[in-house]
Amino acid sequence: MPIYHALGQIPRKRHIVYRQPGGGLYTEELMGNMGFSGLASLVYHVHQPTQVLSVEPVKEIAWVADSEATFRNRHFRTSRLAPTRSVTADRVPLLFNADVALSFAQPLEDDEQFYRNAQGDEVVYVSDGGGLLESPLGSLAFGPGDYLVVPRGIVHRYRISERPARLLVIESAGFVRTPHRYRNEFGQLMETAPFSERDIRRPRDLQTIDEKGAFPIVVKKDNRLTRVTVDHHPFDVVGWDGCYYPWAFSIHDFEPRVGRVHLPPPVHQTFEGDGFVVCSFCPRPYDFDPSAVPVPYVHSNVMSDEVIYYASAEFMSRKGIEYGSITLHPDGVPHGPHPGRAEASLGAKGTNELAVMLDTFRPLRVAKDAVAIEDPAYFRSWVDSPGQTP
Ligand SMILES: [Fe+2]
Repeated sequence: MPIYHALGQIPRKRHIVYRQPGGGLYTEELMGNMGFSGLASLVYHVHQPTQVLSVEPVKEIAWVADSEATFRNRHFRTSRLAPTRSVTADRVPLLFNADVALSFAQPLEDDEQFYRNAQGDEVVYVSDGGGLLESPLGSLAFGPGDYLVVPRGIVHRYRISERPARLLVIESAGFVRTPHRYRNEFGQLMETAPFSERDIRRPRDLQTIDEKGAFPIVVKKDNRLTRVTVDHHPFDVVGWDGCYYPWAFSIHDFEPRVGRVHLPPPVHQTFEGDGFVVCSFCPRPYDFDPSAVPVPYVHSNVMSDEVIYYASAEFMSRKGIEYGSITLHPDGVPHGPHPGRAEASLGAKGTNELAVMLDTFRPLRVAKDAVAIEDPAYFRSWVDSPGQTP
């Protein structure tokens, strides 16, 4: 985020002598993206982050695409997924392309090791559960409805105190940011944006842990996990400043837009990446013209695959979905409200729906793991129960 933030103790100027109480120098590290031209922070370590004891392979992450040849609207039910052990190593792949990957985690345990994603930014939507996201830059408390944005390269680990935890994980090849059209030329979120800097939660409670030993960090790169063991606790930072850090934003802080007649999904946009956007559908009053049709019109998202994660069981235009459902409406087939839903919505005053939408500009592949939780009849749901308004 382009919001300058500082925690702990830092020297008067960058790149000058900064000594530890014992006399040695702190190690200054530039942590940022796009080489030396993107967002960055300057981080001051007690030890050198380069002090590596060993490296060893952990596992390959081979995401296998469904070989099913037919093409249709699809529906997956994450409630059918079994919990797994690790929030970082055991994610269940669902949908992916070269730009973005969607997976699901229901960790039973906290990871012992630390984690660094070196191939993508992560946006983790917390559907259930709560805890603390720890990093060398401070901690973020999180709970249901939070988006946790972890830029690539930052060591972190989750400490989950409220279970079950149900986490929707979006990994992005490009870096994740707030939509460009929400920001002015200086990077500040404008009055017209549906959230403001005040809603962006930044790390707090910087802990400086000066401890020698063997500390494994699992690094994700090239779709494989490598265990890199360093000779000191990685949370050895005494201070940092800059614009590159993990941050949190609650879906409940999104200020939904409402019009006289229906407004399209871009008004719900929350994040943008390279090749995709993320939108938040939040509780809101419906359109206020007496003749407005509150539910969306049928649409063909040409050159876009549309994924919706249903964060509550209520969604104005769908039947047959449940909490935790994911629908995939790919480019090439139209989709829209189920029969009867448009008529039933007339005169309604508002909706309590809560959903996260991922729209990609290149086609998504369906992971084999997703097929196991698929509702195979979904593509016929517009004809199998005509007129039904559950
Ligand atoms: Fe849609």
